Amino acid sequence: MEARKNEKNARSLKRLRKDLRSNGTPAEAKLWTLLKNKQVENLRFRRQFSIGNYILDFYCPELKLSIELDGDYHYNSQKHEIDKDRDSILYKELGIKTLRFENHIVFDTPDKIIYNIIREKMKNSVQYPFDELIERRGTNCYKWDDTPEGVIPMWIADMDFQTAPFIIEALKKRVEHGVFGYTKVPHSYYEAVVNWFKYRHGWQNLQKEWILYTSGVVPALSVVIKAFSQPGDQVIVQTPVYNCFFSSIRNNGCEIVRNALIYENQTYHMDYEDLERKASDPKAKLLLLCNPHNPAGRVWTRDELQKLGEICIRHDVLVVSDEIHCEFVFPGHKFVPFASISEALQHHSITCNAPSKAFNTAGLQIANIISDNPDFRQKIDRAININEVCDVNPFGVVALQSAYTDDGAEWLRQLNEYLLDNYNYLKEYFEKEIPQFPITKLEGTYLAWVDCSVVLDKRKDGYSLSHCGLDAPPPSIEEYLLKRHKVQVNDGSMYGDERFIRINLACPRKRLEEGLHRIVSGLKDLL
Ligand SMILES: Cc1ncc(COP(=O)(O)O)c(C=O)c1O
Repeated sequence: MEARKNEKNARSLKRLRKDLRSNGTPAEAKLWTLLKNKQVENLRFRRQFSIGNYILDFYCPELKLSIELDGDYHYNSQKHEIDKDRDSILYKELGIKTLRFENHIVFDTPDKIIYNIIREKMKNSVQYPFDELIERRGTNCYKWDDTPEGVIPMWIADMDFQTAPFIIEALKKRVEHGVFGYTKVPHSYYEAVVNWFKYRHGWQNLQKEWILYTSGVVPALSVVIKAFSQPGDQVIVQTPVYNCFFSSIRNNGCEIVRNALIYENQTYHMDYEDLERKASDPKAKLLLLCNPHNPAGRVWTRDELQKLGEICIRHDVLVVSDEIHCEFVFPGHKFVPFASISEALQHHSITCNAPSKAFNTAGLQIANIISDNPDFRQKIDRAININEVCDVNPFGVVALQSAYTDDGAEWLRQLNEYLLDNYNYLKEYFEKEIPQFPITKLEGTYLAWVDCSVVLDKRKDGYSLSHCGLDAPPPSIEEYLLKRHKVQVNDGSMYGDERFIRINLACPRKRLEEGLHRIVSGLKDLL
């Protein structure tokens, strides 16, 4: 009897450990997000308990995830004995502190228990060392080595964090091999991509055969433009948008057509009427979609994407969805791969993605171009060869395969938590100190987009900083902050809206605080 009980306890302990500790799977990461957001209504109980040996079984229908807890308790005025020794050991092992271990445990409602357990677990749940200040100068680093000494660079979109330790380990192993010849991509690479997007992002029917690889998302965009347009054709972009969209279109001899996003209440939405008009021009062949959007901070919803897709299908404009920012999504929002929405949108789009932005491996240069259409793939393959971007780097392959794993999902969960804290810090600081400079609502990415129109005068050829109180007004806010306040941001003009500046938040908190302090002092002086 005793042996059976012990065996059972050991089993339940093992199960609990597995369920509560291995929170690296996409489903669990989502669950933490739901709980953190207090969206506990998403949880319900399938079975409450059976007397003496009850099972608290909570079930999240959205994720088809359940967790079971064994024990005794008081519920709805009914008393059930608790095995105090057993359970206190169990909970101690799990590091759960909220449950009370006097004589009995009394819970109000079952979901409160779960919420408390998870809330405890969520405390200090960022364990990777994102606070560490790493010297990047002297490493041929674009961001730091191109920025004058003493200046804090908060511009180009890479992060000041080390990549995940398991990626570093995998790369070390590859380095130790010592031979770095021409590289191809193995079957397991495609499997990693398929499983990641299928299970983490819900792209259910994604197939290995649909994936072509190249050396980056910008090369991928350029290749797709080359494959599906002729010089003189029009390519639609939704401004403000990532600057390389403009250069890729121009470099292929095409015309940029702006379907400007509408800015209202510190957020952006799409202008479908304008899109309908612009897409109906027979010269419009492609639309470059940025999903999630840099720098507007939007994680587009399924409905928004669907509506955009319908317009593009109606006018035979192919959608090229750049999804490089897809891993940076804050609670309450969900990244939806454009092609996963319906077969129609899948047939009518090309997806470009990469792990490089999320795992800070941009220098390793690998990205994917995905299409379900074999004729499209043939055209893309041809353009990859014409542009000579068919070779990838052995480290990029290794990095992707170790990133697209459960460990990678857990690292991203912690990273997103850290980035969200950074964003909240910026928001509170700006709102308190300089409310005249509204912060665009950030649903994803780590790029804050700040409206500086309050200090700009409209001229016929743009905006100027004429009433900034300086004898010789600098040509842009970016230059003003760099020269006078030793902090470098990106000027909004790069993305198509010079009233804004873009601030990169992906750095240790200490550096962020100092950088933002400089920006706030500088902007205050302009008022
Ligand atoms: C939307 C978007 N696409 C692509 C890139 C760059 O991609 P890659 O480095 O793979 O060429 C960036 C970098 O900031 C980006 O923001």
